[in-house]
Amino acid sequence: MPDLSVELFGVKFKNPVWVASGTFGYGVEALELYDLSKLGAVVTKGISLKPRQGNAPERIAETPCGMLNSIGLQNPGVEEFLKKIYPQIKEIDTHFIANVFGEEEEEYLEVCLALEDAEKIVAYELNVSCPNVKKGGMLFGHDPEVLRRLIERIKARVKKPVLVKLSPNTGDIKTFARVCIDAGADGLVLINTLLGMKIDIKSQRPELSTLMGGLSGPAILPIAVRMVWEVFSQFGSSIPIIGVGGIYDTDSALQHILAGASCIQVGTANFFDPYAPLKIIDGIAQYMEERSLDAFTSLIGKAHQMVVRV
Ligand SMILES: Cc1cc2nc3c(=O)[nH]c(=O)nc-3n(C[C@H](O)[C@H](O)[C@H](O)COP(=O)(O)O)c2cc1C
Repeated sequence: MPDLSVELFGVKFKNPVWVASGTFGYGVEALELYDLSKLGAVVTKGISLKPRQGNAPERIAETPCGMLNSIGLQNPGVEEFLKKIYPQIKEIDTHFIANVFGEEEEEYLEVCLALEDAEKIVAYELNVSCPNVKKGGMLFGHDPEVLRRLIERIKARVKKPVLVKLSPNTGDIKTFARVCIDAGADGLVLINTLLGMKIDIKSQRPELSTLMGGLSGPAILPIAVRMVWEVFSQFGSSIPIIGVGGIYDTDSALQHILAGASCIQVGTANFFDPYAPLKIIDGIAQYMEERSLDAFTSLIGKAHQMVVRV
């Protein structure tokens, strides 16, 4: 088996295949399916300070090659997570990354601080696609100054690495990547869902109770690959990129990696093929063997070297 390990922000991952936030629960839900220690990492469902019920149904809709969701970040809150869920994941031999969100800067910080002593959590992944109530509902990740302040504030107080998961629903993703780098983020996670909509032609009404929701799944793969490519083109290896969006098999995972992702996350595919992450780990190993590659890291951003610029 070739060496699939990769070290990012001081943490060694046994392989580059993680599962994405909100598509794998907290990991415990999948314990009956397979041995989670095979995964590079598990990113938890979003965790907030207080419990949240999420949005009313309908909050999921099928789309061509994907799905729309408007779950509304339902979760039991950080206290309950630490009391009831954390003890169940403590013994699992892989890394966990906590996906964190809040409606105010302070909330993000409090959730991170509450998790500081939880050894199994190796990093925080900030979901900045949340409305900032103090800023009149504007999303954290849609205002460069708000984003900068959030990251700086958290970085100044926490010990663990801070990854920022960017929204694709902004103008130029490179502007926001720059802000994250300048503010001291340890990694970029590209991308969250794209804003979309579905209308039921029988009732002639929007299908989701929130009217719009986040589009994910294979339909968004080319957009996610393009964004990973753009950010890697601009910033090279000055900050690790975690690629997410549309990954469902070895080919789609490798596209992200060759575009510049150091690790990848499998999201919506977990719903239609729960074993996809394991197949991708084996598929990457096979791809490396076929090319006599010893180190996985040689594949990261490789496609950039293959482009002849005139
Ligand atoms: C049902 C569902 C729930 C999600 N919940 C979260 C979440 O809590 N936090 C977050 O940052 N992203 C969340 N996401 C976004 C995914 O982690 C991922 O970024 C996105 O779905 C794109 O990847 P994919 O095409 O592989 O699904 C969710 C996605 C889905 C489909």
